[in-house]
Amino acid sequence: MKILVTGINGQLGKAIVNSGRKPYEVIGLEKKHFDLEKFESCKDLILNLKPDWIINTAAYTQVDQAEHQKEKAFKVNAFGVENIAKVLSSYGGKLIHISTDFVFGGDKSKSYLTQDICKPLGVYGASKLKGEELILKLPNAVIIRTSWLYGPVGNNFCLTMLKLHKKYSEEGKSLRVISDQVGCPTSTIDLAKVCWEFIEKLKNKDFESEVFHWSNSGVTSWYDFAISIGELGEKYNLIKKPAKVIPISSEEYKTEAKRPSFSILNCTKTKEKLNIEQTYWRSSLNEVLQNISHKDF
Ligand SMILES: NC(=O)c1ccc[n+]([C@@H]2O[C@H](COP(=O)([O-])OP(=O)(O)OC[C@H]3O[C@@H](n4cnc5c(N)ncnc54)[C@H](OP(=O)(O)O)[C@@H]3O)[C@@H](O)[C@H]2O)c1
Repeated sequence: MKILVTGINGQLGKAIVNSGRKPYEVIGLEKKHFDLEKFESCKDLILNLKPDWIINTAAYTQVDQAEHQKEKAFKVNAFGVENIAKVLSSYGGKLIHISTDFVFGGDKSKSYLTQDICKPLGVYGASKLKGEELILKLPNAVIIRTSWLYGPVGNNFCLTMLKLHKKYSEEGKSLRVISDQVGCPTSTIDLAKVCWEFIEKLKNKDFESEVFHWSNSGVTSWYDFAISIGELGEKYNLIKKPAKVIPISSEEYKTEAKRPSFSILNCTKTKEKLNIEQTYWRSSLNEVLQNISHKDF
């Protein structure tokens, strides 16, 4: 079976390629060879390779910049994704597509179900939601919404916090981190495994396209997450000592795009479908930190 992975310079794309399962033939493509904005060249490449599956991790992920680049965000996250789903469906190929908790407005107090109403607060979330809607019209697509993604490489909160803990503790400064946004981190190592599990489960059948959720388990805030990163970073000798972390409100840390204040994803449907369990977020953080070396941040 041939599996094409897009966005392999991104943190999830790397984790998926690194965890590729035998005997699958895994072909990883970076943006310069597979640009979702270039519809015709994506189409030609897919029809040439005829992969059985595409795992699409490629996306326009700059949440704040998207507020000023609406057209581009939609071209990549909605119409570019629709394009590859259409080409796949022309010959029976299947798609795993990654979406986001930012499709939700954050005004719930219980975990979000896949069928809950979406109310994105910014352009990035709206473009990802449009991508979902377009794919759902076609067969054989699994859409996995995830939240607070981080891993041992790439641009993510964990590596940024390690860098800041190191710098600020050396300078005797405190880190100020938002405490009124609540969610659950998801390790790229864990999400990559779930992508492979879906392929294993669905490889021999056709299916209706559907939305699933996947994150680690538990609930935390960015503030608590930052403290844990410091504590465990010290434990694994990545930093000498953590900086002091001060909780602040979203009001005190203005960003171009609004983020949901609550975005816990209910993952029951995925757990039942694949017969798997979620890992507690702090356990996954332990695993990720053990895979980081000093040169990574
Ligand atoms: N990060 C999170 O917290 C988070 C949370 C929920 C969901 N997600 C979703 O999870 C998926 C993976 O995210 P990630 O954190 O791994 O993202 P990432 O590290 O930002 O990687 C995204 C990759 O997509 C590539 N890309 C950008 N525009 C492209 C285009 N037009 N054509 C092809 N490739 C393009 C980027 O290439 P260049 O580097 O060359 O630009 C990059 O390698 C995305 O669908 C994202 O929306 C992320």
